[in-house]
Amino acid sequence: MNRLFTLLFSIAVAVAAGPALAEAPQFEGAKVCTKCHDLQGESWEKTVHVKSLESLKPTVKAEAKTKAGLDPAKDYTKEADCLSCHTTGYGQPGGYTADMTAAQAKSLGAVTCESCHGAGSQFRQEHGNAENRLKKQSERTPRSVVVAAGQNFDYQTACARCHLNYQGSPWPHAKAPFTPFTPAVDAKYAFDFDKAVRKSGKGAGVHDHFKLTGVFQGDEPALRAEFQKDAKEPE
Ligand code: HEC
Ligand code: HEC
Ligand code: HEC
Ligand code: HEC
Repeated sequence: MNRLFTLLFSIAVAVAAGPALAEAPQFEGAKVCTKCHDLQGESWEKTVHVKSLESLKPTVKAEAKTKAGLDPAKDYTKEADCLSCHTTGYGQPGGYTADMTAAQAKSLGAVTCESCHGAGSQFRQEHGNAENRLKKQSERTPRSVVVAAGQNFDYQTACARCHLNYQGSPWPHAKAPFTPFTPAVDAKYAFDFDKAVRKSGKGAGVHDHFKLTGVFQGDEPALRAEFQKDAKEPE
């Protein structure tokens, strides 16, 4: 009887979860985004996040690894405990896996667009739709449409998930796997969101900003007005 109940219960859970799983947004990689956002793509190529997988290779950044108690001779490029922050969407639908081909890895094997903006399979379609709507019907699209499709505008939390994820962190949601590079190892690893998100040029984590035409409207993300004021004109 008990077993039958367990079986029926598992089926009910599977059925309930089925459609939700099918609808969950997937990670797709940077090249899908840069088809339309080539300028942000070119700028992102110059940020520190592009080389994040490189840092897991043996002998790379040996001194920093030794200081943090890691083995500088070890290959960490297949370690789940490192890939969760050094690649995009690791362990999630469509995200990076340790056994993907070099071609697939090119688009997911770094901290890319979707690490900050969210898994893109659904919202990027809304971007194209919204652009057409503005061109053909002169209608702007509410930003709530892309939020519902999984686009993230809470950049502070996005950064914290990797940068403030260590034991003793001021961030209340920290959980393993933790970063080995904490302020206790070296004060330079302390993360200040307000400073880091505004950093540009060498050492920057975020790409340069380019003027938007205003395809979306309503509930502007924090930082938008500030960054758009000095944003570059797209050529
Ligand atoms: C088919 C082309 C296309 C694709 C693919 C695409 N976008 Fe967009 N995206 C747009 C357009 C058009 C806008 C509106 C730009 C404007 O307002 O000038 C936009 C706007 C945005 C914005 C600003 C939204 C806002 O709040 O106004 C972000 C951030 C963004 N895209 C990120 C991404 C990311 C990340 C991906 C990949 C997952 C992606 N886009 C894929 C066309 C695209
Ligand atoms: C998926 C994890 C992840 C996310 C999300 C992420 N980062 Fe990073 N970030 C890294 C890793 C890993 C490095 C180290 C890259 C390397 O050298 O291998 C790094 C390095 C940096 C650096 C250079 C080191 C430093 O602290 O001065 C800056 C600046 C930075 N990130 C800013 C940001 C900002 C701002 C955000 C959010 C808007 C962000 N990052 C989101 C993982 C992430
Ligand atoms: C919770 C997220 C997270 C995990 C897990 C993680 N890292 Fe990182 N890693 C980061 C961030 C964030 C930085 C950037 C720190 C900074 O410069 O402020 C970084 C930086 C680095 C650096 C560059 C340090 C420097 O001084 O240039 C190396 C090397 C590195 N990580 C290796 C690893 C290895 C190896 C593992 C697995 C054992 C690992 N990381 C696990 C988030 C993470
Ligand atoms: C480390 C986090 C991070 C990564 C990685 C990242 N972005 Fe952004 N992006 C931001 C932040 C922060 C803003 C500014 C806030 C806003 O305007 O919504 C932004 C703004 C944008 C905008 C609005 C216009 C602009 O230029 O400011 C677009 C479009 C965009 N990103 C596309 C991309 C694409 C495409 C990629 C990958 C090639 C990417 N982003 C990678 C954090 C990131």
